[in-house]
Amino acid sequence: MLRKTPGFFISFEGTEGSGKSTLIRQLADLLGRNGLKVQVTREPGGSPLAERLRSILLETEMDSRTELYLYEAARAEHVARIIRPALQRGEIVLCDRFTDSTLAYQSYARGLPWKEVLALNRMATGGLEPNRVVFLDLDPKVGLERAQNPNRFEAEGLGFQKKVRLGFLKARKENPEKWISLKPGKHTPTELADQVFSRLKKDLEKRSRRA
Ligand code: TYD
Repeated sequence: MLRKTPGFFISFEGTEGSGKSTLIRQLADLLGRNGLKVQVTREPGGSPLAERLRSILLETEMDSRTELYLYEAARAEHVARIIRPALQRGEIVLCDRFTDSTLAYQSYARGLPWKEVLALNRMATGGLEPNRVVFLDLDPKVGLERAQNPNRFEAEGLGFQKKVRLGFLKARKENPEKWISLKPGKHTPTELADQVFSRLKKDLEKRSRRA
């Protein structure tokens, strides 16, 4: 049995160029200024081995099944060594991409079976799920125009990014109560961070009432 985690886990998802990292930085700052201990991390990566897998994943062409397993391997390591310990210390974990990216990219866009990817996600995380998924829903065309040094996923082009977006929408449908969806084109990064912060404040208040 897994031990219960007292911290709070938020993943950030979106197509390329949607501004996740800026939002995460601003939000971490806001949470920190409110006296909360925050751990910012990312996938693929976040631990030494997972960062090594990240370089391979972003630079090397490979079979889509190999790709899936490497993402899951990096995730297993990251969850075990970084995310779960931080949550057990009671910290707030902000993670740039998580399991919904695998559903959107490797399943919906690459065509691997959804249910099997769900099962592998569960295996890699030991059942750990984000408490909240913040989704930046930017028009994929705008996002791609922003990409300066396209990685191999950005290089797949607009059709692929549109599929990725539909993959995220499908994942959201399976768990709508967890998702906070934002339209980055319509708001400045500071406005977005304020919006998410006020939603999270309510979650965290609920959490401390339960504790
Ligand atoms: P990154 O440069 O961090 O892109 P971004 O800033 O858009 O997050 O590269 C991570 C890439 O890995 C990104 O193109 C999405 C992809 N990815 C997957 O295909 N599957 C996954 O499970 C994860 C976590 C990421």
